Amino acid sequence: MLYQAPRGTSDILPQEQAYWRHIEQRVAHTAQLYGYERLDAPVFEDTKLFARSVGEDTDIVTKEMYTFEDRGGNSITLRPEGTAPVCRAYLEHGMKNLPQPVKLYYIASIFRYERPQAGRYRQHYQFGYEAIGGDDPALDGEVIDMAWQFFSSVKLRRLSLQLNSIGCKKCRPSYVAALKDYYAGRAGELCPDCQSRLKRNPLRLLDCKNEACQQIADRAPKSADYLCPECAEHFKQLKRYLELLGLPFAVNNRLVRGLDYYTRTVFEIQPEGGGTQSTLAGGGRYDDLIEELGGKPTPALGFAAGIERIILNLKKQKVEAPLLPRPPVFIAYLGEAAKNEAVKLAASLRRGDIGVIKALGDKSLKAQMRQANNLGVSYAVIIGEEELKSGTVIVRDMASAEQKSVPLGELQGELLQ
Ligand code: HAM
Repeated sequence: MLYQAPRGTSDILPQEQAYWRHIEQRVAHTAQLYGYERLDAPVFEDTKLFARSVGEDTDIVTKEMYTFEDRGGNSITLRPEGTAPVCRAYLEHGMKNLPQPVKLYYIASIFRYERPQAGRYRQHYQFGYEAIGGDDPALDGEVIDMAWQFFSSVKLRRLSLQLNSIGCKKCRPSYVAALKDYYAGRAGELCPDCQSRLKRNPLRLLDCKNEACQQIADRAPKSADYLCPECAEHFKQLKRYLELLGLPFAVNNRLVRGLDYYTRTVFEIQPEGGGTQSTLAGGGRYDDLIEELGGKPTPALGFAAGIERIILNLKKQKVEAPLLPRPPVFIAYLGEAAKNEAVKLAASLRRGDIGVIKALGDKSLKAQMRQANNLGVSYAVIIGEEELKSGTVIVRDMASAEQKSVPLGELQGELLQ
């Protein structure tokens, strides 16, 4: 083969599309239920936007971004996530003047130069919901509820909801100091990645996948024990709202997320038994991000979910997507004159909003009917010499194999019926 899709990318083939359309439809419907409006940002942005928001020391920014210089000498990056572009758009379009919180959602391709494996790609799709301009813990509860309800609406089962609070810029430093203290004496036991995290990004020590590191992380100080009174109260209220909503959350002291903008609430939804590698959705608060990008202090939160991973899990759980509509009618013909009639008839039915697949070439009637059968149409319309003469067609109900003769002028009404 001369050309293949680049490593870590894939074609979404026609037979996969039912899942994709179904998920998009559920995403839009969920948005409508909770009052979110769609925002589509560009595929690429100024590199600094992501470096600034996701964090200079994160894996995403240091190792995974598709960054290049355009012909005008600007540093451009294909979006490695969807939150920063939404915040940029919020600021650029003066959305602070709208009633707050502003609630936005997106469905977007995301680019990360990762090591491809099942459920991890270099181009994947996410949908995400962001609520900007609200600090009420009830909003955190609502966003988490929305994530949970989305998954139940696509009938994905056996999921777990993990929750943590990582504090704010006021209380986080004392927690990070305690973490560093704890890890200082154990640096020799850490994997090389963690040794560098200890210097660059100590919070990430907690979610290392290495088993030895995990054992050390299990006994590490917990962020929830270092929250300032405001963050502690916010976390307490959020847990209360989640209980009120009947959501089965588990506090996970090691949940820290891989992007630097988070404050207070962080959460993930995982398939039961799967680790962070298989996380379906993740999100949290980012109360400082809008200010970081040049706006006024504006508390916000949101989450995003990976569509390929959702489809993988739907298939694993044998959940099928509703079939996509296909043309219900096939038109077959015998001879050149009937073919002309078939061309006109197909066009006229389509203009009347009836989907049609018309035979092509000069195959035998038997071959044409085999094609109709393979296509799974509901009706075959057959035009032969006799029909031409009498101004009729034969309509065959493919399920019952019943046939009847219908005057051409009545065909559309008959089919619609
Ligand atoms: P994230 O956890 O990096 O968060 O990505 C969100 C979801 O995208 C993941 O839970 C996963 O399902 C999917 N995902 C991530 N990387 C890949 C990949 N390489 N291949 C396939 N799927 C992947 C964010 O990006 C944040 N912007 C979420 C957020 C929104 N936080 C607040 N608002």
